Amino acid sequence: MKILAIETSCDETSAAILENGRTVLADIVASQVPLHRKYGGVVPEIASRQHIEDIMPVVATALETARLKLSEIDAIAVTQGPGLVGGLLVGVAAAKGLSYAIDKPLIAVNHMEGHIYSNFIAHPDLEPPFISLVVSGGHTMLVDVPAYSEFELLGETKDDAAGEAFDKIARVMDYPYPGGPEIDRLAQKGDPTAIEFPRAMIDEDNFDFSFSGLKSAVINYLHNQEQRGIGYNDADVAASFQLAVTDVLVEKTMRAAVEKNRNIICAAGGVAANSCLRNRLAAACEERGFRFLFPGMKLCTDNAAMIGCRAYYQYLANDFASWDLNADPRLTFTGTVSK
Ligand code: KG4
Ligand code: ZN
Repeated sequence: MKILAIETSCDETSAAILENGRTVLADIVASQVPLHRKYGGVVPEIASRQHIEDIMPVVATALETARLKLSEIDAIAVTQGPGLVGGLLVGVAAAKGLSYAIDKPLIAVNHMEGHIYSNFIAHPDLEPPFISLVVSGGHTMLVDVPAYSEFELLGETKDDAAGEAFDKIARVMDYPYPGGPEIDRLAQKGDPTAIEFPRAMIDEDNFDFSFSGLKSAVINYLHNQEQRGIGYNDADVAASFQLAVTDVLVEKTMRAAVEKNRNIICAAGGVAANSCLRNRLAAACEERGFRFLFPGMKLCTDNAAMIGCRAYYQYLANDFASWDLNADPRLTFTGTVSK
């Protein structure tokens, strides 16, 4: 059973081919990062145009890499949302065309469910139930996954996503987009206890997050130091900011695991690549006897392999899309959703 999956929700044009859901035969990613760097962030209109140029070559490269012909594919999967509408439309149109051409089913995938499923690829023995912490440039969510295709949204950010805060702080300190990896790298040389930044909502009895106050606190600190002519140590700011984000994420994730009685924690999304977050989550899990999983660098950031993996389980559940499928930039979970 071979699925060709397409992902175009943000600034990566990606096509992947998976066999029986968990074996990746090809995972091609054409990144637009260099194109958006000079603007300090993703420009949606530029992203859409680049997706149009890249999508068919990326699909062709995926087929070549897997040494398959299009006619050997059993289903076409595509990210329906959430994401930037222009990019999503390119993916959905391409997927519909391919599915129609080879007369094989079309599967519409939720991007966030894809991130959660990235751990199924990296860890072939992983089975639900588990808690997933999904931290990306657009989202910060704690999700309970009691079964394949069931998702209970326990909490999410009330304002900025964790990745957005990383990108913004890096930008204010004049580091290039995307800022997350820059902060991570800088923080290695800094003192995480140098500056006491706020840990919003950490004591609140819920699983929600807020990072805009932290973002403002860091920006105010930078401005104050500059105005006083003192300057600041980039590495200390990066390390202290990163620890403030990490403390809240780790604390709430552990509480969610206890409340839901889960002993497996899976991190996913671009910010899961952060070394401080991974180390602290791993340590907190070890302390409590939980298993901590992370999908590896390539599967953390946006990729079509995770979309293909999610689609396989939808295929098994006969969850197919019809020809009137449309992109949905605000798509919510397709499984059980409660709060
Ligand atoms: O999942 P992703 O590739 O795209 C979205 O769906 O948003 O996540 C991108 C985000 C960016 O904000 C980027 O700065 C952040 O992930 N990121 C990191 C690291 N690597 C990527 N943030 C912190 N530390 C990292 N090492
Ligand atoms: Zn993503």
